Amino acid sequence: MEIDGLGRQRQALRRAWFRVTREQHVREQHLRDQRLADFRNRRFGLFLHWGLYTLAARHEWVLSAERLTDEQYRPYFEHFDPDLHDPGLWADEASGAGMRYMVLTTKHHEGFALWDSALSHYTVGHTPLGKDLVGPLVDAFRARGLGIGFYHSLIDWHHPDFPVDGLHPRRDDRQFIEAAGGRDIVRYREFLHGQVTELLTRYGDIDTMWFDFSYPDLVHYGERVWGGKGRDDWGSPQLMELVRRLQPGILVNDRLDLPGTADFSTPEQYQPAGPMTVDGRPVAWEACQTLNGSWGYDRDNLDWKPVDMLVRMLVDTVSKDGNLLLNVGPNGRGEMDERAIATLRGIGRWMRLHERSVIGAGPSAYRPPADCRYTQRGDRLYLHVFAWPFGHLHLPGLAGRVRYAQFLHDASEVKRDIADPGQPAHGISSGGQPPGTLTLQLPVQRPDVAVPVIELFLSG
Ligand code: GLC
Repeated sequence: MEIDGLGRQRQALRRAWFRVTREQHVREQHLRDQRLADFRNRRFGLFLHWGLYTLAARHEWVLSAERLTDEQYRPYFEHFDPDLHDPGLWADEASGAGMRYMVLTTKHHEGFALWDSALSHYTVGHTPLGKDLVGPLVDAFRARGLGIGFYHSLIDWHHPDFPVDGLHPRRDDRQFIEAAGGRDIVRYREFLHGQVTELLTRYGDIDTMWFDFSYPDLVHYGERVWGGKGRDDWGSPQLMELVRRLQPGILVNDRLDLPGTADFSTPEQYQPAGPMTVDGRPVAWEACQTLNGSWGYDRDNLDWKPVDMLVRMLVDTVSKDGNLLLNVGPNGRGEMDERAIATLRGIGRWMRLHERSVIGAGPSAYRPPADCRYTQRGDRLYLHVFAWPFGHLHLPGLAGRVRYAQFLHDASEVKRDIADPGQPAHGISSGGQPPGTLTLQLPVQRPDVAVPVIELFLSG
């Protein structure tokens, strides 16, 4: 009897445990679905690359690219003193540009922590600045309603237990490699998980965790990178578990080398040709793009993308159901440089008038004419005209489906016709268009905005 009673109790306990974990799982999934929907609505974010490399001012990979020693890199640590830094100003620029979230490099590959980590001396706390940068930035962006993401490098070229590999700054230094033979990835992994725990327990709700990056089989300039690292090195399954446990609603990117577990994909420095899929299924994605090819502040780099190109990239991204994460690398005084500010303000001028064509909008099932992109938001279809044509734009499939049309920048009406498909071209009368085509009549003058947008009100 006793044993039977015990068995029943155990069974009941097990059932209750399964129910609780299932309910918890459903709750967490629901939370993540909501976050993902919110993330997709936000559409436009600011990437911030800031660290010691900022002082070198020649790309955030300078340590590896120039194969610098710790001693050669040390002056940047000793002189890190961004005295003009005001997090509110950065948040104002981002929000003025129409951005809805930010992602901050908490630690880049150089290994330097922008917060006062208890697990390392290689932190802001030990520089002349001597204080946490992450908290005040998070507060300033949050106060303006922007979402918060943390970029965190899996790679660490400073940690004494990070095994040397083909990307490491000391990759060609035989003596160094020999002396580093005892490096223990297990200890590094503990440190990595420990720092992530600090980040996800000190700063409240974080929307996205942006890990960077895995390279088990990387081919760099035609050569396979030796010692490449991936899920076993980072302990990716445990890391993912840890992140989700500490912040059940958080969205995690796709660079942990754990196929099938990411919440969004991260195409870097290129525009995908269409909506992205993984194994044939549509996925959320976020294109990350630079202003001038470098992520960290790069003083002498003049490859700045013009404002109209960046606006086209944003529109193109949303038309393919993606987000755009646009980067600024602030300088060593703690300011965004004039060129970055001018670019953000240029984008902001366009966003002030046009944001409803991108924020909260997504792709449309209609096929746009050449050199145009559609986005859609409920019954509003937005036609973005990348190259200004003379006189007319023919819109397939929209005849009889548009109640009203206007330019978005000034709410001036755009007249429309439906040409009789059988009408022959003759003299000043143009020929018919395929059945179902709606024709817009355009002014000769292209509206003086980075990308003109025509707002089409669809009928029921
Ligand atoms: C990379 C680079 C890096 C940059 C990042 C942004 O993989 O290593 O420097 O931070 O991607 O996407």
